[in-house]
Amino acid sequence: MKITYFGHAAFQIKLNAGKTILFDPFISENPFTKVTPEKLNPDFIVLTHAHADHLGNAIEIAKRTKATIVAQTDFAHVLARTEGVAVIDYLNFGGTYYGPEFQLKLCPAWHTDAMDYQGIPLPMGVAAGFALSAEDKLIYIAGDTGLFSDLKLVARKQPVDLAFLPIGGSYTMDSSDAALAAEFLKAKKVIPIHYNTFPPIKADPIEFQQMLPQGVVELPNVDEEFDF
Ligand code: NI
Ligand code: MN
Repeated sequence: MKITYFGHAAFQIKLNAGKTILFDPFISENPFTKVTPEKLNPDFIVLTHAHADHLGNAIEIAKRTKATIVAQTDFAHVLARTEGVAVIDYLNFGGTYYGPEFQLKLCPAWHTDAMDYQGIPLPMGVAAGFALSAEDKLIYIAGDTGLFSDLKLVARKQPVDLAFLPIGGSYTMDSSDAALAAEFLKAKKVIPIHYNTFPPIKADPIEFQQMLPQGVVELPNVDEEFDF
């Protein structure tokens, strides 16, 4: 597979068999990426939750590309009814979407979820994480979450090959909690996300890198595709 990180919590995975999955596409207001939403052509858009720094440009991209949105059931229903986009609308915690070329399991995250409606945060249920199984690899997308010990369950059958973990603090776990999350997940590789985008989520990724064994934390260049 090929992965491109766009900064904040946005990234894309292109599977060798052909499908492209875009995660939390906060693009046009993302200060890190030079990519524009029109350049992205996913088959699936995975949304951990509805906060603006995750929903981002998902709706316009889904309308243009006819990509299917995968999200927690209540949030997915709202998107289908209000925007007319294609969604997988039956996933709640513990449920798995059996897609072409991959599987996505909806996992808990300790984080609220709300969508901006005329300036009011309208509750959308609970935010999620995802366990992606593809090409015999297990990739864990924590979403926005605080630290919780049930992350150990993710690695019960198979250690996590790659985990995307927030390190910015304030809204999510910070670096030292993310280091413990990496241990719980038995993560072979970790990409830190959700930091330095806004003043409350200032974090030093090098400091985080030094909290885990050498070679575990990867800091990919933004917008640069790499093989995984
Ligand atoms: Ni959030
Ligand atoms: Mn966020």
